[in-house]
Amino acid sequence: MTPAARIAAAAEVLDRVIAGTPAEQALTGWARGARYAGSGDRAAVRDHVFDALRRLRSAAARGGAMTGRAVMIGLLRERGEEPASLFTGQGHAPAPLTAEEAAAGHAPEPGAEAMDLPDWLWALLCRESGEQGAAALAAQLRRRAPVMLRVNLRAGGRDEARDRLADDGVTAEPDAISPSALRVVDGARRIRGSAAYRDGLVELQDGASQAVVDELHLTTGMKTLDFCAGGGGKALAMTGRADIAAFAHDADPDRMRDLPQRAARAGVHIDRVTLAEAHAQAPFDLALCDVPCSGSGAWRRAPDAKWRLTPEALERLHARQDAILDQAAALTGANGTLAYATCSILASENTARVDAFLARHPGWHQHHSRQWVPGASGDGFFTAHLRRDRH
Ligand SMILES: C[S@@+](CC[C@H](N)C(=O)[O-])C[C@H]1O[C@@H](n2cnc3c(N)ncnc32)[C@H](O)[C@@H]1O
Repeated sequence: MTPAARIAAAAEVLDRVIAGTPAEQALTGWARGARYAGSGDRAAVRDHVFDALRRLRSAAARGGAMTGRAVMIGLLRERGEEPASLFTGQGHAPAPLTAEEAAAGHAPEPGAEAMDLPDWLWALLCRESGEQGAAALAAQLRRRAPVMLRVNLRAGGRDEARDRLADDGVTAEPDAISPSALRVVDGARRIRGSAAYRDGLVELQDGASQAVVDELHLTTGMKTLDFCAGGGGKALAMTGRADIAAFAHDADPDRMRDLPQRAARAGVHIDRVTLAEAHAQAPFDLALCDVPCSGSGAWRRAPDAKWRLTPEALERLHARQDAILDQAAALTGANGTLAYATCSILASENTARVDAFLARHPGWHQHHSRQWVPGASGDGFFTAHLRRDRH
């Protein structure tokens, strides 16, 4: 596909996303009908679509309409590229700009439009973080996320992992966010085919996700519960840190289906448990709640989510977050730690949930908390460690 044909394909996919289809689904649908597209083409179209979704509102303003075509025109204008050079109508290129399209579009209005957020979210972020803080966060969310790897320190060191990745054409560098983190500089698309990945020496995992686990200060023999284990990324990172008795639970056990194979690949064991089994195993020295959240800290990776979130959905998330903390508190030992984590930059999901927990549970206190903002080493994340008061 020519560069212009890729733009035309991205515009087509964006039209489906704007009409309500999730981005991944829209991309898969397009790829199925585009047998002529090679893997490089599919990757390039995907990059265009995700770049556009991160900047959807400002690109639509610059392009003059909320359509796939106008958004791609707006994106090119923002990059300082002349749309007419690609919109030629030749081959599979998009049709030339009409006179109206050439005249349409304006510089985004300061605030939510320029910051690429829905109005209500921009207002919320400004209330929570101040206008300067909100602008800095929103600016990060308009950029691409880094590709980060976690080295399984049980299987080898970071330098060894970097060298083995280099043998397979993946350039990665140690990153200060975590002793296990490598930041991929080049060759990201070769990771899954590399020997280091296949042998379990590295896993794809965001840098802040790794740092959250570092902060748990795991020691040999600890009995731990990953209460919202999902695919088990955090549970695996925990077993990579120390010889712990690791248990994993999820309200949707199907999400943990690949965990046994992933654990075997990493050379560790993690027991999957139902809620009743978790109660039978309690008390735990550590219960980690990596709760369902807006995902706002990771909107660079899933940019359509920032356009889909509603105030009502956020309210419902708060209620689920509170309920999960209450459930996991009952499983945490007298001297144990209840660790709360979100990949969110919204205080309403972070400090406000901790404050609400402490108000509902006299006799508990916050021992530690930390917020990571989205940046060059990872996503936005929050964690807080809660403990019972000692008498
Ligand atoms: C943010 S994801 C977890 C990601 C995972 N820890 C990882 O690192 O890959 C949140 C998970 O919480 C689960 N969940 C939602 N409600 C829950 C509940 N009431 N109890 C336990 N898990 C729940 C969801 O099914 C989802 O898998």
